[in-house]
Amino acid sequence: MLSWDEETAAQPALQPAAPSRPQADVALNPALVARPDAVEGGAERRVNMADKRIINGQTDVNQLVPFKYKWAWDKYLAGCANHWMPQEINMQRDIELWKNPNGLTEDERRIVKRNLGFFVTADSLAANNIVLGTYRHITAPECRQYLLRQAFEEAIHTHAYQYIVESLGLDEAEIFNAYHEVASIRDKDEFLIPFIDVLTNPEFKTGTVEADQTLLRSLIVFACLMEGLFFYVGFTQILALGRQNKMVGAAEQYQYILRDESMHCNFGIDLINSIKMENPHLWTPEFRDEIKSLFLRAVELEYRYAEDTMPRGVLGLNAPMFKGYLRFIANRRAQQIGLEALFPQEENPFPWMSEMIDLKKERNFFETRVIEYQTGGALSWD
Ligand SMILES: [Fe+2]
Ligand SMILES: [Fe+2]
Repeated sequence: MLSWDEETAAQPALQPAAPSRPQADVALNPALVARPDAVEGGAERRVNMADKRIINGQTDVNQLVPFKYKWAWDKYLAGCANHWMPQEINMQRDIELWKNPNGLTEDERRIVKRNLGFFVTADSLAANNIVLGTYRHITAPECRQYLLRQAFEEAIHTHAYQYIVESLGLDEAEIFNAYHEVASIRDKDEFLIPFIDVLTNPEFKTGTVEADQTLLRSLIVFACLMEGLFFYVGFTQILALGRQNKMVGAAEQYQYILRDESMHCNFGIDLINSIKMENPHLWTPEFRDEIKSLFLRAVELEYRYAEDTMPRGVLGLNAPMFKGYLRFIANRRAQQIGLEALFPQEENPFPWMSEMIDLKKERNFFETRVIEYQTGGALSWD
């Protein structure tokens, strides 16, 4: 296999050769010596791996290689290997259970509707945040490549929630407006939206300490608090239903979403830590204190959501159990970005959730795949 330099040198030039070129240009890059068609000054524009930066980089973002942030490329490959689509999952048992008046208790139905009410707009917020905000401010093409994959996964998640709403015949207006109409959902979104809005504002640019901290703060809120914390009461509840053999199609959809989200969260944390390494001056004591108070506020909001969705014990779960779980997760997220644990000695009350994150797609898909659905089966050339 050709190395990057050899491969590039073997390609025809993208633009016509300059009529004459000074010898000095060629001498800048030995790979161009044998190229009579080289463009004048072109050699100086070649990407030097050492010059790449996650933010405020000056290198050409159209050139994916040479790789500097291999971890981002590896996550892109892993995301592609985990590809799935909502229609691949059979929803028939869920539909029968939901339509049966004795199929679920009122508390279980409340959990399903609240969950969909939060998630059906949350993943659109996530997608818009990536496409209209974060993507513009990240100058490492490996990271952009992952963000493109992540944006598509967020679209798949919105599709999955919509597919569940449609399958169960729920009131679409009620579910899609829950983020305006249900206080525990609205409060979480109102906490998040300012951190998204600042990045999607066309006037916002990085390059000053203040602006770079604004970006870093939003990345932390998005990865550690939105994807890394605000999703977890909901995921645990639906997966608990599935563990009791209820709403198994929805639970399977959520398992795939949880796997994607844990990858998004890990990517976000690697991104945050790489920005910190390249820009240690951003990580001031004041900034860290501010981040800690955002963590505490997020734990409080997610706990209120737990109380609202579980006014009584249900499925062997109750709101106070989530106080411990949220503190456990918040500690982990804080430590992952180099902060101290926020709450002393919290243990995971739901160890089975960790197993769910590591699920093997193939085994589950062969068990439950809808036979009629064919990938790419819609194309006909006759
Ligand atoms: Fe998502
Ligand atoms: Fe996500």
